[in-house]
Amino acid sequence: MTEKTVEIKNLSYSYPDKTDVLSGIDLDLFKGESLGVIGPNGAGKSTLLLHINGILRGKGDIKVLGLEMSDKNLRQIRSKVGLVFQEPDNQLFMPTVFEDVAFGPINMGMSKDEVDGAVREALSKVDMSDSVKRLSHHLSYGEKKRVSVATVLSMSPEILVLDEPTSNLDPKHRRILIGILKELKISKIIATHDLELVSETCSRVILLDKGKVVASGNAADILIDRILLEAHSLELPHFRGFLAKADK
Ligand SMILES: Nc1ncnc2c1ncn2[C@@H]1O[C@H](COP(=O)(O)OP(=O)(O)O)[C@@H](O)[C@H]1O
Ligand SMILES: [Mg+2]
Repeated sequence: MTEKTVEIKNLSYSYPDKTDVLSGIDLDLFKGESLGVIGPNGAGKSTLLLHINGILRGKGDIKVLGLEMSDKNLRQIRSKVGLVFQEPDNQLFMPTVFEDVAFGPINMGMSKDEVDGAVREALSKVDMSDSVKRLSHHLSYGEKKRVSVATVLSMSPEILVLDEPTSNLDPKHRRILIGILKELKISKIIATHDLELVSETCSRVILLDKGKVVASGNAADILIDRILLEAHSLELPHFRGFLAKADK
């Protein structure tokens, strides 16, 4: 059987002022697989993702690379899960781009040369090499998103968790990001409204609405189901390959 990298069983979560944000979520991520998490605003996608490296701790069982989510395992889990937040301002907290991208590698105990190499490679992947000395808070929103992706790529994570990674990217840099994701053969979870992104990078999809999994299956089946998508405030991807199949 294929190895599971993330196992979530019966996860429920409430914020102090908003109950049942997640209810009875089951999710498995297999080694090397990319899973899309889709659903309307407020469905609970970001809340679900924040459980995968233990930022939020709901009720239920979570295992990451065979490790139970517990205080004892938190540090180890976080060294293996690269989570890119929906809001880049939550990701970037150092003065410069270099320091933000170097933060993870330094914490992992890499040598100065290794840190420099990891930062350079990660920034080059997202086409931000020219900005290495810039102040993170001076970047545009899209540039911040790209640097946010670099802050986790620099750590060579075993699992990549991305929350709305293409929001506010221009077409060229959205395309570059999709290329990076296709090339990276590690396990990935991508929460997004960008169903074209899902169709290009994910083999499997779960559809969340009001904190529950309302559908799950092959991306190719779910992304052509107009009735299902529209019932949950989404729409068919607008490009031809999918439309041709969908209109049959
Ligand atoms: N920190 C928070 N405190 C209280 N409620 C929150 C918080 N974050 C999100 N919520 C609420 O939880 C629900 C799910 O939000 P979220 O996980 O961000 O959904 P999505 O990412 O699918 O848009 C929404 O109703 C949202 O308003
Ligand atoms: Mg969200």
